[in-house]
Amino acid sequence: MFKGVLFDLDGVITDTAEFHYRAWKKLGEEIGISIDRTFNEQLKGVSREDSLALLLAYGHKENDYSKEEFTTLAKQKNEYYLEMIQEITPKDVFPGIVELLTELKEAGIKIALASASKNGPLLLSKMALTSYFDAIADPAKVAKGKPAPDIFLLAAKEIDEEASDCIGIEDAKAGIQAIIASGAYPVGVGRKEDLGEDVPIVADTTSLTLDFLKQVWRKNV
Ligand code: BG6
Ligand code: MG
Repeated sequence: MFKGVLFDLDGVITDTAEFHYRAWKKLGEEIGISIDRTFNEQLKGVSREDSLALLLAYGHKENDYSKEEFTTLAKQKNEYYLEMIQEITPKDVFPGIVELLTELKEAGIKIALASASKNGPLLLSKMALTSYFDAIADPAKVAKGKPAPDIFLLAAKEIDEEASDCIGIEDAKAGIQAIIASGAYPVGVGRKEDLGEDVPIVADTTSLTLDFLKQVWRKNV
């Protein structure tokens, strides 16, 4: 059996992936870069700074800003995002997630957060989920963001487990790649077109039950 579950946050635990998209879109419009949801798939799971670099490159403006201006733009996006998440409450947790966290706890399976977001602790607190988590991997402590495995390796370490004994749950292509690179077993939330044909996928979080995770794990080993 698996010993830990490593959760992504944005787009897995709640719909904040949508707010990240809207905040990047708003920032983009201000600097003359228009993005759509197709381009946004590339930003999912990617750190704030790496996302801004991708946005600027998409608009052919990668050489237009100094280091200081780059930092200011990243800060501005985060301010838009923070405004948008102010109203988040426990009601915004995706269906099935509290039930899954409860089942995992009862089964003695450890739970860690492996989000690229520096706003992870704030969001868990707003959704009253902090107490379910045995560890929150700090994205500021890892050298490389997703698709590199670092944040999943750190999350596994913080619950004293090998990544290969854990399941990782992700809604982003970069996140699935990071899970696979860490040696953990990936489960995707979303569409096969976005996440890959060869990974177990659920269309939404209502299907994420302990039974489902046990089933896919059995196929893995
Ligand atoms: C990831 C999101 O979880 O966190 C990305 O999928 C986001 O869209 C990244 O850019 C960093 O988040 P934050 O809150 O630190 O800007
Ligand atoms: Mg995500």
